Amino acid sequence: MSRNLALDLVTRLPTDASAEITCEDNLTYMRRHENESMQLIVTSPPYNLGKEYERKTSLKRYVEEQAACIAEAVRLLHPSGSICWQVGNHVDDGEIFPLDVILYDLFKRHGLFLRNRIVWTFGHGLHCTKRLSGRHETILWFTKSDDYIFNLDAVRVPAKYPEKRSFKGPRKGELSGNPLGKNPSDVWDIPNVKNNHVEKTEHPCQFPVGLIERLVLALTNEADRVLDPYIGVGSTAIAALKHNREAYGCDSEKKYIDIAWERIHALRAGTLRTRPMDKPVYEPPRRRVDQ
Ligand SMILES: C[S@@+](CC[C@H](N)C(=O)[O-])C[C@H]1O[C@@H](n2cnc3c(N)ncnc32)[C@H](O)[C@@H]1O
Repeated sequence: MSRNLALDLVTRLPTDASAEITCEDNLTYMRRHENESMQLIVTSPPYNLGKEYERKTSLKRYVEEQAACIAEAVRLLHPSGSICWQVGNHVDDGEIFPLDVILYDLFKRHGLFLRNRIVWTFGHGLHCTKRLSGRHETILWFTKSDDYIFNLDAVRVPAKYPEKRSFKGPRKGELSGNPLGKNPSDVWDIPNVKNNHVEKTEHPCQFPVGLIERLVLALTNEADRVLDPYIGVGSTAIAALKHNREAYGCDSEKKYIDIAWERIHALRAGTLRTRPMDKPVYEPPRRRVDQ
C-alpha cells in the first residue's frame, strides 16, 4: 500500500455508510468537506474552564479559536441549513461571562440570522455559595437564509388542555388547539447528564440525546447531513442516526471517539438506552407539612 493511501485511510477511518466520526482537530476535519454540504451543524464547544479536555487560555484567544471554527461551520452550511451553538458561561475568578453574548457577533459577521435563543433548563448542577446556582444554558439557533427547513409538526408536544374548544366565532365548539400538540417553545426543561442518567458515559459534559433529537427533527429531513465539530462521545451522531440522518463529527480526544463508536454500534444493535425525547421531568412527591 502506498504511503499516501495509508495516510488517507488513517484520516478517513472510521466511517461507514451513514456515519463519519473521527479523532481529529476540528479545523483539519472540516476543511476536508465541501462548501454547503451540511444541513445542520450542532455543537457544544469547550467553555474555556480548564476541564479535562481543554487548556484554559485567555478569553481573547478562546474567542479567536471559536471564530475560526464558526467561519468553517458557516462555509459548510447549506443555504437552507441551521447552526445551533450550545453554550453556558465561562467563569473566571468568580465572575461569569455568558458565552452566547460573547459569541453572537461571530455569527452575525457572516450574515447569519438568529431564529431562537433556546433556554435549556435542568435541575442539577453545582451548588454555588457566592452567586445563584446556574440551572440553564442556551442554544443560539442561526440560519443562513430566510428559506430554511423548520418541521414544527415533528416536534410538537402535548397541549396542556387538549380538549379546550373555541367558545365563539365561526369555529365555536371546535377544538381550539392543534390536534398534533403545541409548539415546544424556546424554553426546554431536559435533565442534564449526571451520574444517574441512563446515557452517562465517562465524558464530563455530554449532551442529553433528546436535546439534539428535537433539533434534528425540526431542522433537517431524512438523509440530511448533521455535523458536530466537538462531538465528544457522539450524542449528536446518536440523535442523527436514530432519525435516519447522516452523522459527521470529530473530537480531539481518542477515548471519546472510541465511546462514540461503541454507542453507535449499540444503537444499531438495538441495545443503546436513551432517555425518551419528550419524557416529562420527574417531580418527586411533595411531603405534606403538618401545621
Ligand atoms: C463540551 S464537550 C462536547 C461533548 C459532546 N456534546 C457530547 O455529547 O459528548 C467539547 C468537546 O470538544 C472537544 N474538543 C476540544 N477542542 C477540540 C478541537 N480543536 N477539535 C475537536 N474537538 C475538540 C473536547 O475533547 C470535548 O470532548
